[in-house]
Amino acid sequence: MSFNYHDGVLYAEQCSVAELAAQYGTPLYVYSQQQIMNNWQQFATVWPAPHRLCYAVKANSNLAVLHLLAQLGAGFDIVSGGELARVIAAGGRADRVVFSGVAKSRAEMAEALAHGIYCFNVESAAELEQLNEVARAHQVMAPVSLRVNPDVDAQTHPYISTGLKTNKFGIAMSQARDIARRAQELPNIQLQGVDCHIGSQILTAAPFLDAADRMLALIADLRQDGIAIQHLNMGGGIGISYQHEQPLDVSAYLLELQRRAEALGGLTLMLEPGRSIVGNAGLLVTQVAYHKAGEDKDFLLVDAGMNDLMRPALYQAYHEIIPVQQSAASPLLVDVVGPVCETGDFLGLARHLSASAGDLLAVMNAGAYGFTMSSNYNTRPRAAEVMVIGDQAHLIRERETVSDLWKGERIVEVPR
Ligand code: LLP
Repeated sequence: MSFNYHDGVLYAEQCSVAELAAQYGTPLYVYSQQQIMNNWQQFATVWPAPHRLCYAVKANSNLAVLHLLAQLGAGFDIVSGGELARVIAAGGRADRVVFSGVAKSRAEMAEALAHGIYCFNVESAAELEQLNEVARAHQVMAPVSLRVNPDVDAQTHPYISTGLKTNKFGIAMSQARDIARRAQELPNIQLQGVDCHIGSQILTAAPFLDAADRMLALIADLRQDGIAIQHLNMGGGIGISYQHEQPLDVSAYLLELQRRAEALGGLTLMLEPGRSIVGNAGLLVTQVAYHKAGEDKDFLLVDAGMNDLMRPALYQAYHEIIPVQQSAASPLLVDVVGPVCETGDFLGLARHLSASAGDLLAVMNAGAYGFTMSSNYNTRPRAAEVMVIGDQAHLIRERETVSDLWKGERIVEVPR
């Protein structure tokens, strides 16, 4: 791992986290380039071309992160025109982009067609018709994969489970053959593959393989209907360890997927991993403002809040919180809470920590869905981000200023 203690001080690779906080201020996101590379290689070494890995940009879309992954040969899974623009700005290849999302606009479709993306992951019959129209207007063919909902229970938090038929995502398995036939008829649609994504933070291979079997059966049916299917994209969703969970063995999963797909033959496999690439490669540094001794319990009031890291408030997600400087003092039972005016504004509840005003804490495994989900609630500028490479730290996003936050706002004169 790339975050370790040396002589009681937390380091990101060879950089002291305390020094990073002193230089760049807090709250501060710190990423380890080496850890991102290691995570990527775990996938890429087991699964070389023609199989394709499309990093899910939503997990962490900083240009430096995207640039690094582009250099490693990544494709990208995007969900908006904004994410496409980021991929291009970071030097990513458009012909390795897959476009997911349930409500793509005409403008987003046109932009993606103009860039020549690899394919659209189409989520409904209505979207397919609209994409055909947009492609016709631009006199091009739109490459398409049908996102099918395999109706499996991913056994994860209900807010991040997407593969059940009660979710809004994907085309129902029972409708997939008809919609594929329709795709064949549409003059500006080029059907290439099928895809699914059953949820996120999934810790066992079973639901993925269950979904894969259903998708492979569908592909066999479609081929029987005379419809050529060239790729199967199994989406993202591979979980990481936040609290001593045992995540699934990535290479075993990839190899098993490959084995099952080979039985059918003629398929390129794709994945859209997000969290498993960047999650454990980032931490959030925060400074304790006050220690408040309460009647029933104590609070550590820190300078990072739910606007900086929303996962605990939104999903009751657990993130380990550790001191940047270890101390010999005996730990207290505390809630680690932010400055935002909401009861739900916590980073961790009932933790054993010894820290007092001025001390630094590190919120671990914050590299995925940390900064990207942050907001300006309570007019709080978003944090700075730093990428560590060995003993060098690079500022990859400046801290926002307060005046950035009212850019574009207008005062309206009040009638007297
Ligand atoms: N592909 C699609 C179509 C997706 O919707 C997602 C994530 C991914 C790939 C990447 O999944 P991953 O490998 O990162 O699990 N904000 C939540 C997670 C939401 C995931 C949304 N979709 C969280 O903080 O846990």
